[in-house]
Amino acid sequence: MVDITLTNVSVGQGLALADGLMLTQHFHAALLLYRKILPEARGDQRRAILNRIVLASQPTPRTAAAFATLQQLERSTRDVFLGDGIATWLKTTPFLDDDRFMALADKHAKLIPIAGLHWNLATVLWAVKRAERLDGDLMELGVFRGHTTLFVAEYLGFAEWPRKWFLYDTFEGVPDDQLDEGWGERNERAYKDTFSYDEVAERFRPFPNIVLTKGRVPEILDEVCPERIAFLHMDLNNSQAEIAALDRLYDRIVPGGVIVFDDYGWAAARTQYEAERAWFAKRGLEILLLPTGQGLFVKPER
Ligand SMILES: C[S@@+](CC[C@H](N)C(=O)[O-])C[C@H]1O[C@@H](n2cnc3c(N)ncnc32)[C@H](O)[C@@H]1O
Repeated sequence: MVDITLTNVSVGQGLALADGLMLTQHFHAALLLYRKILPEARGDQRRAILNRIVLASQPTPRTAAAFATLQQLERSTRDVFLGDGIATWLKTTPFLDDDRFMALADKHAKLIPIAGLHWNLATVLWAVKRAERLDGDLMELGVFRGHTTLFVAEYLGFAEWPRKWFLYDTFEGVPDDQLDEGWGERNERAYKDTFSYDEVAERFRPFPNIVLTKGRVPEILDEVCPERIAFLHMDLNNSQAEIAALDRLYDRIVPGGVIVFDDYGWAAARTQYEAERAWFAKRGLEILLLPTGQGLFVKPER
């Protein structure tokens, strides 16, 4: 390894150098350079750098293609944002102007193998802020390494809230008897032996009001479960457990309480979409499918 110091480099020159590194798939080196020039950048250059940090901070097999798409969009239009599974342009993206949001998203990007979940994080942030004014606790079914909850809890200073946030996971992936079609290989690759209870507990140590529970949904809900729920983040990647959780939890959700279904609109989770849509349709209700892939549901007053 060599350390290189560059002096008197303009933001434009730094951007060009780092883009070259992106094109040759040296994403980490590009990331260091983007972070270095960001504080001096303004306007369109700043947006361009933030977009590149989003891609470079969590390289995936899709990063090179995403970067090429980003560059093409930037040449032909304005106000671009590009993450995994979503590209927007000519749209307001308030998070790109929010330095704290961007810094925290960057800090925790490594916790999930998907790049640029900023719109998704913004949805959950909205729902959790709403929950602050309701009488009830918060829940996340399927915490994995803690990406979403950690981001939101840090952003909102949740440690000071007079509420609890209950988090659940098997810490062993989707149980074999709950796998939806096509999820076997994905489950092995993403969740088996890739994370642990201890690692996640350590991550949430600064939050005494976050309760981390190891166990299988739905059975574990008979042992640990808040009486009243103001926010539920449903993210188990399997329809059987999510439907069983809805059966047990729906009556505990307070009027105005929100459920965010993380997987609802992702094509690979079509079984969840069908099952959950049907569950709500039976009750004359509907989940809003967002372009982020999330499903949003606000419990009506009656
Ligand atoms: C997509 S990940 C969750 C991601 C997480 N919400 C985040 O923001 O990073 C899905 C998680 O659900 C867990 N899981 C799947 N089925 C489960 C079940 N029946 N009970 C408990 N956890 C389960 C898996 O172990 C995995 O960690």
